[in-house]
Amino acid sequence: MNQNDLKRLAAEKAVEFVPENEYIGIGTGSTVNFFIEALGKSGKQIKGAVSTSKESSALMAQYGIPEVTLGDVTKLAVYVDGADEVNHMLQMIKGGGGALLNEKIVASASEKFVCIADESKYVARLGKFPLPVEVIPHARSLVSRKLLAMGGQPELRVGFATFNGNQIVDVHNFPIDRPVTTEDEINKISGVVENGIFGHAAAHVLVLGTAEGVKVITPGH
Ligand code: 5RP
Repeated sequence: MNQNDLKRLAAEKAVEFVPENEYIGIGTGSTVNFFIEALGKSGKQIKGAVSTSKESSALMAQYGIPEVTLGDVTKLAVYVDGADEVNHMLQMIKGGGGALLNEKIVASASEKFVCIADESKYVARLGKFPLPVEVIPHARSLVSRKLLAMGGQPELRVGFATFNGNQIVDVHNFPIDRPVTTEDEINKISGVVENGIFGHAAAHVLVLGTAEGVKVITPGH
């Protein structure tokens, strides 16, 4: 099975975590695309879903999943999204697709975060994947110097603007031993809008597609 097969496996399993007659949140990325397709085809009735990107919204419309905004709802029962890396505590690096801010907002509005991924994303330590940091454009150099002083190698994601009109700096070679602390330290830098460490918003469940089949993992297990 290739990586896409494993993503699809996880995505299809995750439909079981979606309760009927509730509002849910839907992330962004190729694994989520498989989830949207699987949810649409499952016939499961949900009240609606908050999307985190135009790409996810377009696919939701294609599969007849009603879209609502965060302003329309008071509670999201579950949030389903992929990750660039996830550790055994289900803390993650996200934002490879640049939607980290919307993803963190919707995740924090949800009662349960179900992360879907193929086994290549499951790591002992976060940080091999470059950490995306969303920055206000005119603060980019200032923020980059501070990220350099923290030990990383920041690189502007050239030709990319976020949904909110900001830029992304990807921080390379930045091993993250204390995800929550590092998440907070980066967010304290003036000019940083958000960073891709999901330490506070760790997942509750990881649905992992592996060559041996799909595994459902909870924090610390
Ligand atoms: C987008 C994300 C995605 O969840 C992450 O990049 C994983 O993507 P994919 O499912 O395509 O591997 O955080 O901002």
